[in-house]
Amino acid sequence: MSSYTLFLLLHLLMAFVFVGAVFFEVLILEGARRHVSPRVMTAIEIGIGRRATRVMPWVILTLYGSGIAMAWNYRAALAHPLDSTFGLLLTIKISLALSVLGHFLTAMVLRHRGRLVATVFHRIHVSLFFHMVGIVLLAKLMFHLSL
Ligand code: HEM
Repeated sequence: MSSYTLFLLLHLLMAFVFVGAVFFEVLILEGARRHVSPRVMTAIEIGIGRRATRVMPWVILTLYGSGIAMAWNYRAALAHPLDSTFGLLLTIKISLALSVLGHFLTAMVLRHRGRLVATVFHRIHVSLFFHMVGIVLLAKLMFHLSL
């Protein structure tokens, strides 16, 4: 198996964990809020937060590391993003992925300052959700579209 294939498999596996976690938060957990008392919900969120803090850094590190390793193969296309549809879509995909990191950094800073209130937390999750949809669609369409 080539190292590219290995990175691709790692990337795909970590993407499904990361994207799955965000989808779970937005589609399942947010919907469950209505059926559970605020006290129980807060306890669940604290528990999930602790678990995510342990697992997610490794997932994110592997996801972005394997992404960068694969992107090295396409450095010529990335150097001139406007010259090909593939280069353009991959550039947008990577920009969205960087913006995802920005969301996490923002959430961490706000939490540190005690300003991560529920509405901001919810907005960050919904924005992440749409970023993920964009990233996954671009990851596939970049190989099949020619604009
Ligand atoms: C939130 C972060 C990210 C997610 C959710 C994500 C998700 C995905 C998915 C689902 C694929 C398709 C894999 C497949 O076809 O088996 C993919 C492909 C790819 N990703 Fe990412 N990605 C992320 C970040 C990055 C970053 C930061 C880079 C590079 C700097 C990157 C570079 C690539 C490349 C080059 C491919 C094409 C691989 C191929 O099919 O040959 N990704 N990504």
